[in-house]
Amino acid sequence: MSEDKSVTDVCIAGTGSYVPEKILTNEELAQMVDTSDEWIFTRTGIRERRIAADGEFTSHMATHAARRALEQAGMEASELELIIVATITPDTFTPATACYVQQALGSYKAVAFDISAACSGFLYAMKLAKRLISDGAFQNALIIGAEKLSAVTNWQDRSTCVLFGDGAGAAVLRPSKPSEGAILATEMGTDGSLTHLLNIPGGAIACPTTAANVDQNLHTLTMLGKEVFKHAVNRMKDAAEKVITRAGLQPEDIACVIPHQANLRIIDAIADRLAVPNDRVFVNLDRYGNTSAAAVAIALDEAHRTGAFKRGDAIVMVVFGAGLTWAAAAVRW
Ligand code: UT7
Repeated sequence: MSEDKSVTDVCIAGTGSYVPEKILTNEELAQMVDTSDEWIFTRTGIRERRIAADGEFTSHMATHAARRALEQAGMEASELELIIVATITPDTFTPATACYVQQALGSYKAVAFDISAACSGFLYAMKLAKRLISDGAFQNALIIGAEKLSAVTNWQDRSTCVLFGDGAGAAVLRPSKPSEGAILATEMGTDGSLTHLLNIPGGAIACPTTAANVDQNLHTLTMLGKEVFKHAVNRMKDAAEKVITRAGLQPEDIACVIPHQANLRIIDAIADRLAVPNDRVFVNLDRYGNTSAAAVAIALDEAHRTGAFKRGDAIVMVVFGAGLTWAAAAVRW
């Protein structure tokens, strides 16, 4: 899916993010499983991650991030027309987490639904919302990537539990005004032949929540890390190149690349292949680990608020996750 001919240009009017207070460091993890700060940091680039409180759910984190994005966009929650939450850790199977966010924000005019595209969900949501606004169906949209991955992590499995964290990021989209930037190009893709590489096998309909299944940790994330790594580098590079070309950009025009935050070695490999210097690649996975759909959304907000790019700059976001799924977006800020 790739065409980007828009009736109306659509911009990102505000961003926001939220991470829970509790920090879990590599040293603390080394007390729980057979690992070390040295292994985790050299293999992944992660130093610590955030863990949501027991009663703190995906919708709560999503709502905090949303309020910050709305505030920056100068928009009231009551004005929202569309809310899309990208998550693989919804509060409930049904209704959608977006409905709880709508309730918390009081955005009762908005149509609200979730999408499940793992780590790629935020950019899937961006493409959908952009098209729905540019086609005139909605005047604005709140898109959110939010996850409580700590709830689906096997805390006895050192090969996965060191990787993930909790958090949420959000963006408000609306038609661009003159002199404002626009989402220039978007790309997304899926390869369903590789569902086995990264999944949560149990807890849904095919493998229900029974005592026996929970005893085997089938409700937690499993990953064939090396395989996923290979696909991640190739797919993200290809997706990023497509939006860069379609947006008419050269590598030197890009002020900031904001990649999915899964592994610093993957990020470095992509920067290298795109010929973008490392100091123009935004990284925060040292502090948050991999927060799936939230990762690129939190990174976008932090990059924006810390001045990693400014009005008029071109930025590129690129993501990859279970499915397998991947997506990219080029944005003139
Ligand atoms: O968000 C969706 C996308 N996800 C990704 O993109 C993740 C992609 N994959 C990765 O980031 C990496 O594959 C991992 C970080 C998950 C793993 O790194 P790796 O370099 O591929 O390591 P490995 O799985 O091949 O494991 C190497 C060794 C193994 O020991 P042996 O068999 O060589 O003796 C593991 O048992 O490291 C061992 N190991 C650990 N050792 C200490 C695995 N996990 C740990 C650990 N601490 N936490």
